Amino acid sequence: MSDNQRLKRVFSGVQPTGNIHIGNYLGALRQFVELQEDHDCIYCIVDEHAITVPQDPKELRSHILDVASLYLAIGVDPKKSIIFVQSDVPAHAELSWILTCNSYTGELFRMTQFKSKSQNKESAPAGLLMYPVLMAADILLYDTDVVPVGNDQKQHIELARDIATRVNNTRKKTFVVPEGRFMKEGARIMALDDPTQKMSKSAENIHSRISLLDDENKIKKSIMKSTTDSDGTIRFDVENKPGVSNLLNIYSVLSGKTIDELVSEYDGKGYGDFKKDLVDVTISSLAPIKEKFDEIRHSDELIEILNDGAERANAIAVRTLQRVKDVYGLGLGSK
Ligand code: TYM
Repeated sequence: MSDNQRLKRVFSGVQPTGNIHIGNYLGALRQFVELQEDHDCIYCIVDEHAITVPQDPKELRSHILDVASLYLAIGVDPKKSIIFVQSDVPAHAELSWILTCNSYTGELFRMTQFKSKSQNKESAPAGLLMYPVLMAADILLYDTDVVPVGNDQKQHIELARDIATRVNNTRKKTFVVPEGRFMKEGARIMALDDPTQKMSKSAENIHSRISLLDDENKIKKSIMKSTTDSDGTIRFDVENKPGVSNLLNIYSVLSGKTIDELVSEYDGKGYGDFKKDLVDVTISSLAPIKEKFDEIRHSDELIEILNDGAERANAIAVRTLQRVKDVYGLGLGSK
């Protein structure tokens, strides 16, 4: 196959930090499954990103296997896609250093995620500042065309594009400039307890999110308790009704019904009925994921899939890294 006939390359990653939630699923993960039908897909568990904040080593290992199992449970097929753990491929950290030398501290300090994560800290870990450079390395290492992510990663993708373009302009064309891919609905799922904040893995209140592995009681409680408003009508209006709009968004994606269809279905009905139905839709959407997760999580097959994925990813990554080292004159060269 010639270069312009090659399938488009997709790369994305999820941090193994526990509590993978429906925001992660609706914004990013569900795209992974859809794209693998006609793209060349690589999905990573980005454990090196996770250690930008302190992690318990046992828990981190366990969360790596959780995320890998969730990839498989939602339908990522290891025959079609590569699934691997970032730290199993050393080229990520190596390319990250080279890209660091092509980044400016000013652009890194401007990243909103850095600003919010370093807020109220006397001294922020340098890893938090370098986080988006490592992410750029993840993406550029595989000559990625498309990066399926949620809206919160837009600025990081822009930075990866800027770094790639900068290197291409100052050296010879070295990198493919990637594009972000964002869902129309679900790209930013908000917290259930405070719909002005995005749903997050690390929020203290467990009822702010629905994790993919939550049991039925927890799902019910979180949705029934979710913050709405006192207006009583079910309509989509993010500005004035952020809670109801967020629930409509989730309901629409999980059920496959449009928001307009839902609004007319619930015309004249109260929030109680609407929430109860959303509970049912959520439980029935997540049940098969949970079932498959339980099947795979402690299997030998999981480890085999990750080892095989690391080998395949590594084969691609070392080639790109050598190409970049040649461009910079690092080492003794490939020949
Ligand atoms: P992470 O682990 O925080 O989140 C995983 C994915 O979930 C999306 N997401 C959301 N989407 C909709 N609504 C939400 N409330 C929500 N919260 C999270 C994220 O946008 C992400 O797509 N930096 C990345 C991991 C990463 C990466 C990469 C991604 C590292 N290297 C290379 C793509 C390519 C992150 O923090 O993901």
